[in-house]
Amino acid sequence: MRVNKPKVIFSSLMVLFLVVVLFPLNESQQSWTVAISSSVLFPCNSDPYKMRIWEHDNNVLFNNKLKIDFKLDHIYLLDNYSLLIQEITLPHKGIYRCLQDGSIAEEFLLNVEVPPKMFLTINEFDSVMKISVEEGTDITLFCHAFGALPPVNLSWAIDGEENDYRALNFTVAVGDDYQGRQVFNSVSSYTFKLIRNNGTVSCRSNTVSGVGKREINLQYSTFGKT
Ligand SMILES: *[C@@H]1O[C@H](CO)[C@@H](O)[C@H](O)[C@H]1NC(C)=O
Ligand SMILES: *[C@@H]1O[C@H](CO)[C@@H](O)[C@H](O)[C@H]1NC(C)=O
Ligand SMILES: *[C@@H]1O[C@H](CO)[C@@H](O)[C@H](O)[C@H]1NC(C)=O
Ligand SMILES: *[C@@H]1O[C@H](CO)[C@@H](O)[C@H](O)[C@H]1NC(C)=O
Repeated sequence: MRVNKPKVIFSSLMVLFLVVVLFPLNESQQSWTVAISSSVLFPCNSDPYKMRIWEHDNNVLFNNKLKIDFKLDHIYLLDNYSLLIQEITLPHKGIYRCLQDGSIAEEFLLNVEVPPKMFLTINEFDSVMKISVEEGTDITLFCHAFGALPPVNLSWAIDGEENDYRALNFTVAVGDDYQGRQVFNSVSSYTFKLIRNNGTVSCRSNTVSGVGKREINLQYSTFGKT
């Protein structure tokens, strides 16, 4: 079999061309997803003797060291021209650019997540931490995730085995939280039989920032078995 080398090289160059010329922003833009109330530090390695600007969604935040925009709280400029954002809220989302003499030195996309509050219940309402039933009985558990933004998917595991995780009977509803934000509530039910004496059933939400990736454990035991 004959390999057509020039063709291979040409295709590689074509791919390189597409990546470099058509997607230049994706290469330099860094994407950060953080939990609400947390903080981030965006560095800008730049020359202090050049004109420097930090912008948020094209609004100038700092012109050199001078603060220009006061709309967003808790944004601080450090001595090395890093931008520190603390107590992050939803309006902090967006594109942050550090410009040096008018060209982009650094670009960050900031996404903000609201992690859900999670509960396990044995019917739709009764909160449960531990249950005792006879071996072989069907048990249905409900996993609730309240107040997430964006909506989360829920998955289950038995005895912590990652490969047992799957999203089951997933539903989502929209509501407003106490701060007037539009947030999402999810419920997933899981029906299973007890096959071992003691163990753990856990449910978790798949947030990117990791803060909502909380496992809730359920201890089970059996009656009258020895
Ligand atoms: C800038 O300064 C902060 C605070 O001193 C430090 O944490 C950070 O690592 C520095 N960043 C760079 C790029 O030097
Ligand atoms: C949830 O699962 C659906 C279907 O698998 C998928 O399309 C969606 O992107 C997932 N959402 C998240 C937040 O992971
Ligand atoms: C999902 O829901 C269906 C219908 O309500 C039910 O028959 C099934 O057992 C549920 N699956 C699990 C794993 O709970
Ligand atoms: C289940 O856990 C309880 C409490 O930790 C313990 O007393 C019991 O012996 C355990 N049963 C088995 C079969 O491991």
